[in-house]
Amino acid sequence: MHYLDFLTRVHTRLAPTTYLEIGVRNGRSLALARCRAVGIDPAYSIRAELDGDFALFRTTSDEYFARPEPLAATGGVPFELAFIDGLHLFEFALRDFVFAERHSSARGMVFFDDMLPRTVDEAARERHTQAWTGDVFGVLQVLERYRPDLVVVPLDTVPTGLLAVVGLDPDNTVIDDNFTEILAEFRHPDPQPVPAEVLDRSSVVSPGRFLEAEVLELLASRAGDVTAADLRGPLRELVAERLGAAFVGMPV
Ligand SMILES: C[S@@+](CC[C@H](N)C(=O)[O-])C[C@H]1O[C@@H](n2cnc3c(N)ncnc32)[C@H](O)[C@@H]1O
Repeated sequence: MHYLDFLTRVHTRLAPTTYLEIGVRNGRSLALARCRAVGIDPAYSIRAELDGDFALFRTTSDEYFARPEPLAATGGVPFELAFIDGLHLFEFALRDFVFAERHSSARGMVFFDDMLPRTVDEAARERHTQAWTGDVFGVLQVLERYRPDLVVVPLDTVPTGLLAVVGLDPDNTVIDDNFTEILAEFRHPDPQPVPAEVLDRSSVVSPGRFLEAEVLELLASRAGDVTAADLRGPLRELVAERLGAAFVGMPV
């Protein structure tokens, strides 16, 4: 399944009231939103037809989230769905996750794009291929080590895979607190050490199976004031039962 087809279904089934997109480019993924949507990109050039409630910010995610009120554009309502698809470098994607989670509802979902590079070349920090994931795949190992409380599911979408993250805890500061150590350990010079499981997609879930597992329906059924502690148990149970224990926490 192409990632835009998958995200279309996510928007429909989750029916979030707020959406965050980091990395908008032509607006193809932003155009899927049917709710108040905040798009951040220093160089967007919208070509998709946008019909909805959008706020676009021509800036970097770092600058945007350094503002005193990053939720001003939603009237203070936390994000219920976020798509991280900005600068494809490990430290930027990881920081984007910290920003997104901090400003999300506990029943929110974050998706990363470009989690499953198809070749080591495509995963290079120094871009030299047309299709480019960069070294965003490294985020998987960081979440495994530092955030075993999250439920993280790599998805076999076309072309370069997605990572679904649920069980968000807006008050968790572990990644932020350990950022320097994380960069020292997990950021590598090219060529990138992409794990075999990532390249051959042996530990991933098909997007159709993920949709059938009704994770989205579980999140959508919970009230806006639900906490991470309330959701963690039911989410883990559901994912373990429908997708296999390997996908509770990190498979790699
Ligand atoms: C792969 S494109 C996004 C594609 C879009 N999400 C889609 O699926 O149609 C990546 C975008 O990230 C933007 N970008 C680069 N650095 C960024 C940053 N620091 N913060 C936010 N966006 C950034 C680029 O300008 C580019 O338009």
